[in-house]
Amino acid sequence: MKEIIKIAIDSPAAAGAGTQAKLIAKHYNLFYLDTGKIYRFIGCEKIKNKKNFNYELIRKKIKKLKIKDLENKKLLSNKVATEASIIAKDKKIRKIVHNFQKKCAYKPPKKFNGSILDGRDITSVIMKDASIKFFITANVRIRALRRFKELKSLNKKITYNEVLKSIKKRDKSDYQRANSPLKKTKDSILINTSNLTKRSCFLKIKQIIDKKIKLNGNL
Ligand code: C5P
Repeated sequence: MKEIIKIAIDSPAAAGAGTQAKLIAKHYNLFYLDTGKIYRFIGCEKIKNKKNFNYELIRKKIKKLKIKDLENKKLLSNKVATEASIIAKDKKIRKIVHNFQKKCAYKPPKKFNGSILDGRDITSVIMKDASIKFFITANVRIRALRRFKELKSLNKKITYNEVLKSIKKRDKSDYQRANSPLKKTKDSILINTSNLTKRSCFLKIKQIIDKKIKLNGNL
């Protein structure tokens, strides 16, 4: 059986990982999953369904979950992001979404050459044996400014300081939580996007991937 390419990315919020993952997916024809969207989807359910929110409901929703559901614009708000980082601390919830992510990573649709996932525990838990791993980060003020501009372009009412505060809070929770905390694994390549344009960052990552392909014959 042909070996599939598996690329794993972890990053703190708004570091540019999603943008880069999409560009890499397109270039190498890989199936892309933004795993943060799954936690946002559950966070959104909690906001909608406060009274009936329980593990059974989450299990049912995840069973029926389609990639298209993760494209819902509602998932992009700051409120949903905050709720996502709260529910993401729950070990049982992480267990429920584990298989969905594994399936995307290890059994992507046949038309793709492999998969690329980004999140907080992809290099350390979901795709431990990925062909190549990246830890993408950037200065917190730069990340807040990028996210602020993104939310403004979606007409969200929010100030830069609110975004900065919320990203700092999420960073703290994501790095320090007991279950699957965000960390840079030893075998991950560090990419700091603070002073890089989208294009120059993509070219840097592409160079690393191409070098690895040349060395191994494939990834
Ligand atoms: O990546 P994004 O900002 O959309 O993720 C929202 C939240 O989901 C994160 O702050 C984090 O708490 C959680 N998350 C996670 N594990 C992942 C992806 C996201 O805990 N693999």
